[in-house]
Amino acid sequence: MQDIRIEFSMAAPFADEALLAETEKKAALAYADLMDPGKEADVKGWLQPMEQNDAYKAMMDKAAEIREKADAFVLVGVGGSNQAARAVIKALQQGGTPEIVYAGNTLSAPALQKVLRHLDSKKEIYINVIAKNFETLEPGSHFRVLRDYLRRRYPDEDIAPRVVLTGTYGSRLEEIAKENGYTFLEFPVPVGGRYSVLTPVGLFPMAVAGIDIPGLLSGALRMKERLSDPDNPAVRYAALRQHLYRDKGFDIEVLASFEPQLDYFAKWWVQLFGESEGKEKQGIFPTAVSYSEDLHSLGQYMQDGRRNLSETFISIEEPDGTVPVPADPGFGDRFDYLDGMDFLEINHAAEAATLRAHFEGGVPCFRVILPALNEYTFGQMFYFFMIACAVSGKTAGINPFDQEGVEAYKRSMFRMLGK
Ligand code: PA5
Repeated sequence: MQDIRIEFSMAAPFADEALLAETEKKAALAYADLMDPGKEADVKGWLQPMEQNDAYKAMMDKAAEIREKADAFVLVGVGGSNQAARAVIKALQQGGTPEIVYAGNTLSAPALQKVLRHLDSKKEIYINVIAKNFETLEPGSHFRVLRDYLRRRYPDEDIAPRVVLTGTYGSRLEEIAKENGYTFLEFPVPVGGRYSVLTPVGLFPMAVAGIDIPGLLSGALRMKERLSDPDNPAVRYAALRQHLYRDKGFDIEVLASFEPQLDYFAKWWVQLFGESEGKEKQGIFPTAVSYSEDLHSLGQYMQDGRRNLSETFISIEEPDGTVPVPADPGFGDRFDYLDGMDFLEINHAAEAATLRAHFEGGVPCFRVILPALNEYTFGQMFYFFMIACAVSGKTAGINPFDQEGVEAYKRSMFRMLGK
């Protein structure tokens, strides 16, 4: 099994060695603090990926049942409750059955109507509502609509096996599951939404989609083991990005990849860092680009705009898929230099050229290199970035586990809606 690599050689030259050493000391302390089981146990349940116990077996059995019977599986959740599963499913699901349909992540009427119309074409529909405390408007409101939809499609006695609810023990969602005979899966209390990928929140929908869950978990455990080494790449990444931000003015970090398969992983990453670090009027602003397409939009700014940007490239050495460019002698399109070359090679060349140009143009470039994109490397990436994010937030002196800032708009919205 192959390890992912994290490289700093195109970011470290932008650092001031003495100042970086100070930040590294703080980051190492922050990591020790994070790993101290006696501290903040109420928010650190995610440090231990789900174990293969009875609850795991029950979760996998239900996933196998749905996988066998469903034409469509509706994942109802928002933010940390759907991003990680969607990232992996969009990247790795083979064959497309059951079709995973996403709902409860918007308040758009046209979007919801489109989902319902699409479901009309499916025979066997199952849903999974994921909501930590079951107070969030998007999943709560969509669950109503989908319950009503299921009642119109199926006889009463046929609804309970189609509904799985994932929430915390003691929440209204658990009561609803009991009252209606729905399957209930635990959203562990000491795990925040954006740190929930290695719990039933992320794992159950992935299992329904046929993702190799043991592979993902063993990748996460492998990274956990690697990070216990004194030369800890998550601490180094956290320290370097904090130093570049605080001491050198690099206040925007862009996640970049040349594989569109990773577009939804980028959304997970943006949420993880944005919600964890953007507080107390500080924090690196996280954003993402999908190359090569975005070389034709933000590429100009990355190369030549304000020098306050750092970039984290996720590279896949051996992506799954090859397409050679056929020769077309005599056609005269002036692309003959590509004859016989594979798109793999072309994409790698574009990536190497972009990295070099951005680095030389004044952009610190971090690299996360995956031998291949699969469950094992996804598991490593999830664990690496969650630890790096928590360490980075703690190094900055903020709480990476809360999100008080999202309450302001909610208060005003709930007033308008008469809650
Ligand atoms: O990371 C977080 O905690 C948030 O993004 C939540 O996951 C998101 O707001 C959804 O919350 P809930 O699962 O309670 O509906």
